[in-house]
Amino acid sequence: MYNETVMDHFEHPRNIGEMEDPTVVVEVGSGECGDRTKLFLKIEDDVIVDVSFKTLGCAAAIASSSMATEMIKEKTLKEAWDLTNRDVVEALGGLPEQKIHCSVLAEDAIREAINIYRKGQGFEPW
Ligand code: FES
Repeated sequence: MYNETVMDHFEHPRNIGEMEDPTVVVEVGSGECGDRTKLFLKIEDDVIVDVSFKTLGCAAAIASSSMATEMIKEKTLKEAWDLTNRDVVEALGGLPEQKIHCSVLAEDAIREAINIYRKGQGFEPW
């Protein structure tokens, strides 16, 4: 059902776990299945200098969160904002059609975290 890249990120998720002193923490749930992702970002000068996550979800959700965190590390907030679930699915080499929605969790978490940060800094949310 899953390709090698997806299985690798599921079995060996990158950036997994709680972060001690994050700038922002956010938890989002999937409207489709109820699975959840918690995302921790450490932000300095509008750059994501560290990121970690915990996902209570399926293999596709864990693999997507793992890949997404790799893709936003050391990126600016704007670059991270522009990352879509389709980019993550492509980087994973594809997901079965019925599991595409699982990759949306990571995108939602990243965007919500960025907007919480922006509001905290006195900026309009994107
Ligand atoms: Fe819930 Fe995949 S089935 S995130």
